[in-house]
Amino acid sequence: MASARSVMLHVLLLALALAAAPAVLSDPPPLQDFCVADLKAATAVDGFPCKAPSTVEDDDFFSDAMVAAPRTDTNPFGVNSTRATVSVFPGLNTLGLSITRTDLAVGGLNPPHSHPRGSELVLVLKGEVMVGFTSATNRLFTKVVKENELYVVPRGLQHYQLNVGTGDAVFMAMFDAQSPGLVTPTLALFATEPAMPMEVLTKTFLMGEDDVTAMKSKFAGF
Ligand SMILES: *[C@@H]1O[C@H](CO)[C@@H](O)[C@H](O)[C@H]1NC(C)=O
Repeated sequence: MASARSVMLHVLLLALALAAAPAVLSDPPPLQDFCVADLKAATAVDGFPCKAPSTVEDDDFFSDAMVAAPRTDTNPFGVNSTRATVSVFPGLNTLGLSITRTDLAVGGLNPPHSHPRGSELVLVLKGEVMVGFTSATNRLFTKVVKENELYVVPRGLQHYQLNVGTGDAVFMAMFDAQSPGLVTPTLALFATEPAMPMEVLTKTFLMGEDDVTAMKSKFAGF
């Protein structure tokens, strides 16, 4: 039987774990019922300042960002992501969540990318989507996810989504961050402004300047 002392120790450890829990959330917890983003505020803070509560309306907690059917034929990847992050949905400010709808044409690819501030819970609404992510030890995890099935991509890791079905595919990606951020390595290397020094690119990719120039020309304008 556990002694009173070891029970106390367990209670103490549990209390410490609970006290530490907010520190492991992706976004910090809110300090008030709501803080609808004032997107035009002059003051810059981490997140957005709150609109005056007296000016908050029902529509601040509503968004129709996902309603319009996105086109997937306007880019060579056959992908279109419609994001409802805090910058288009001010009611999300301080709530630590956001959502993206991604449409994929047949064979369409959401190219490898990562979200520095959020884990991603994928729900496939239509079609068959191969989701893959790479761990920090370069292990690749993949799974073909079908209608109504879920997949989770841990925070910050590189991942992609490829339509492997015979028709269009649609999935929702839910994030534990109001603005999860988006880093796409192809662009972060070949389409930066100003351009990354040629010497860095030739040495990184063990390629000549002509090959680097060819890569840059493919990603210019994205
Ligand atoms: C996504 O679809 C919208 C609506 O059709 C279109 O205006 C936009 O250009 C598309 N974006 C991409 C990246 O294809």
